[in-house]
Amino acid sequence: MTAFRETAFRETAFRETAFRELSVEKRIKTLQNEGAIDESDATFLLKQLAESSDATIPADVANCMIEHQIGKYTLPVGVVRGLIINGETRNVLVATEEPSVIAAACNGARIAAMSIEGCIVANSPQYVTTAQIAFENTDGNVAAQLREIVEDSGKVEELLRIANESHPSMMKRGGGARKCRAVALNGFAKLEIDVDTCDAMGANTVNTMGEAVKAQLESWLGVEALAAILTNTSRVATTAEVHIPAAALASTRLENLDERESEGKRLARRIAALSALAASDTARAATHNKGILNGIAGAALASGNDTRALEAAAHAWAARSGRYLPLSTWKTEVLNEQTILHGRIEIPLQIGIVGGSISSLPMAQLAIKIGKYKNTNDFRNTLAALGLVQNLAALRALASSGIQAGHMKLHASNLAIAAGAKGDEIVKIAHNLLQLTTAERTTEKVAQLLKQLRESDKN
Ligand code: MEV
Repeated sequence: MTAFRETAFRETAFRETAFRELSVEKRIKTLQNEGAIDESDATFLLKQLAESSDATIPADVANCMIEHQIGKYTLPVGVVRGLIINGETRNVLVATEEPSVIAAACNGARIAAMSIEGCIVANSPQYVTTAQIAFENTDGNVAAQLREIVEDSGKVEELLRIANESHPSMMKRGGGARKCRAVALNGFAKLEIDVDTCDAMGANTVNTMGEAVKAQLESWLGVEALAAILTNTSRVATTAEVHIPAAALASTRLENLDERESEGKRLARRIAALSALAASDTARAATHNKGILNGIAGAALASGNDTRALEAAAHAWAARSGRYLPLSTWKTEVLNEQTILHGRIEIPLQIGIVGGSISSLPMAQLAIKIGKYKNTNDFRNTLAALGLVQNLAALRALASSGIQAGHMKLHASNLAIAAGAKGDEIVKIAHNLLQLTTAERTTEKVAQLLKQLRESDKN
């Protein structure tokens, strides 16, 4: 049995090595021969390859960025306009598959521009990326030894030197390993090293440093470490804040100012109530935070950042009290007899404007250029502000007519595309779908509308 397993393992390993070494075209052919894809799938992938252009991801770059590459995944990229942060208006590129995300962010940005501040006020502290070298610590000895190490300035100096020498370019850029901490956990102990990664997110740098330091610690302690890897959590967060007069929340279709004031107050109160609901219900907090991340994750994706790292950090921050909470709060306040909606977000943003895959992706570079981000904290401030206005737009919609009305307009186009509509047909079918009730918008109905449209065009 063991022998059989070993043989099977060797064969799989052999086949995978061979697959990696094939050209992209031959990888596609192999999948087709194995029956994993059919001829039309293969034609689709080969067509994509033939259309390879430097304007998307050059074919050679795509092949080197990941393993076993056989295609490219494209998403629409849109621009959030009119977002004013600390007095500066930004254009933020967002890559997303979800209709309404960009429209909602623009709407939230428009309302925030009517705030008392005239913009979103955002602030980012100095961030670091932290490596963790973790040990098993059943008898408490390792924790005690790590504590002694961080209390010995000579040893700390040595660890920081080892970390910095393993990645000297970070020091040249003005960053580098800064600080060590010993942390005792239940059954484990770890040494943490904070690294200033300048304008990069720095995952690779910090992992390299962590592994170099791990070797030194193992030799001092005579114990094998469990792992050396960065943590995606952050000890600090970016904040963004805004004070919006209630009337600015009401629909601009309301011409009567008194009506606008009273509708605005009603919405402000209901938005604050939704915020309180998220603070008392994890099920609602998760969706509240998902809405915040809609634009932020899209902007992180468009700029070549690691969206999973960002989202993991955001959720860890939301749960840092021991209970999962919303990342933003909305409260009503009275200022000079005027009702004001006060919104505040706190979110850690482990991102960069250089490094990682940013320089390999032409669209990522464009996202950074269009955003005019002066440094990573400037980008962080923009993303926190984006999250806040995205959240405002979602809560305002929920507090009034719900989100489906706006969402379904764009979703109707997606239904038309899924049924095979092309060019002008998409707009026409979407228009026809919107005349129907939601229940009537079935796949069969869309196919029928498309058939009718094509027949009427023929006549
Ligand atoms: C949808 O992508 C996001 C919302 O569900 C967020 C929320 O409920 O706050 C609308």
